[in-house]
Amino acid sequence: MSALALAVSNPAPRVRTEQDDVAVVVLGTGLVGGTLLRLLEETAGRRRGLRLVGIANSRHSLLDSSGLTPPLIEKLEQAPGCDLDAVAAVLFASEARVRIVIDATPAAVVAQRHARWLAQGIHVVTANKIAQGGSLKDWQDLQQARHSGGTHYGDSATVGAGLPALASLRRLRRCGDRLAALDGVLSGSLSFLFNRYDGTRPFSALLQEARERGYTEPDPRADLSGTDVARKLLILARTAGVELAESAIEVEGLVPAHLAALSSTEFAGRLGEIDAFVDARFRAAQAEGKVLRYLASLDSDGSARVGLRAVAANHPCAALSGADNLFAFTTERYRERPLVVVGPGAGAEVTAQGLLADALEIAG
Ligand SMILES: NC(=O)c1ccc[n+]([C@@H]2O[C@H](COP(=O)([O-])OP(=O)(O)OC[C@H]3O[C@@H](n4cnc5c(N)ncnc54)[C@H](OP(=O)(O)O)[C@@H]3O)[C@@H](O)[C@H]2O)c1
Repeated sequence: MSALALAVSNPAPRVRTEQDDVAVVVLGTGLVGGTLLRLLEETAGRRRGLRLVGIANSRHSLLDSSGLTPPLIEKLEQAPGCDLDAVAAVLFASEARVRIVIDATPAAVVAQRHARWLAQGIHVVTANKIAQGGSLKDWQDLQQARHSGGTHYGDSATVGAGLPALASLRRLRRCGDRLAALDGVLSGSLSFLFNRYDGTRPFSALLQEARERGYTEPDPRADLSGTDVARKLLILARTAGVELAESAIEVEGLVPAHLAALSSTEFAGRLGEIDAFVDARFRAAQAEGKVLRYLASLDSDGSARVGLRAVAANHPCAALSGADNLFAFTTERYRERPLVVVGPGAGAEVTAQGLLADALEIAG
């Protein structure tokens, strides 16, 4: 037999590189997902490799188990419609040791798949809060799926964007410490809005600015209604071992009922209708020498609330700036003074970095 025939019937084994061990699909190519794709490209030479085998948005999906090559977005725009069913298939076809889906969408249909992926042996990293911050049953299903699949759920970016809020809570819990109370500003967009609002510029103009800076949810009513903050409070409470139901949180929203049912485009054209309500609350707080903040709290008796509060000028939340978040954890061992985590709590760069950090931690 000739050497050539030998080579054909017995091909040299493919040399596996470090990159081959971790296959990743990124869902969502908007502010956060798009920034993550850029970070993956920029840091490719400096970190342990992640092989990108798929990207998708609501309109297209581009999948290749051997790895995608640039220009990613141009190729995605030419690809067929979004097929979430194909995500698990491409990850298994990659034969990678570690398979990760990164969810950078706000979509419930994507969140509904997290538990299935975890149970199948696919790790999930997410900025999407819906699966953990929704019904208690969904939360319990996720925990169950994680156990049965032996997988990890990278959720740092769901609360505090890139801040170590959930990580701090888990460290305390691992040491046997118990959360007694939690207070804070959990929304970067609402923090920005109330840190900046001084009555000289309409609230709706600031809201528009927050949207342009990428601080708000795709539909800002998710922020203004308090839903997004309530989801974060649920995630924090559940992470601390307090399995709260959604209905246990008292939520004060800032969206008048007549604007709640509009489409997001119609709502965008009527932002000005919120101005009078916010201004009245602002003037009332000012008359008492206080400032307005949108706060979340969980008390030792399990009562939980999110809403607008007038706080004294020396309150820690009064001194925040930009889109800062603040988490004050009072625990058995931090009972005199709380453990405080504070810093920027919104923005595409810090959120994408939170996702990348979780993915790298899972990659090992
Ligand atoms: N922005 C922040 O500062 C921040 C901070 C913390 C957490 N987050 C979270 O990060 C997530 C993304 O936020 P973003 O600001 O990047 O939103 P965005 O700019 O609106 O981007 C959302 C992306 O998700 C895609 N998408 C929507 N539904 C989908 C579906 N069913 N299947 C596949 N892709 C789908 C969209 O597709 P199209 O391009 O086709 O519309 C878009 O690419 C949200 O869950 C948000 O809560 C954001």
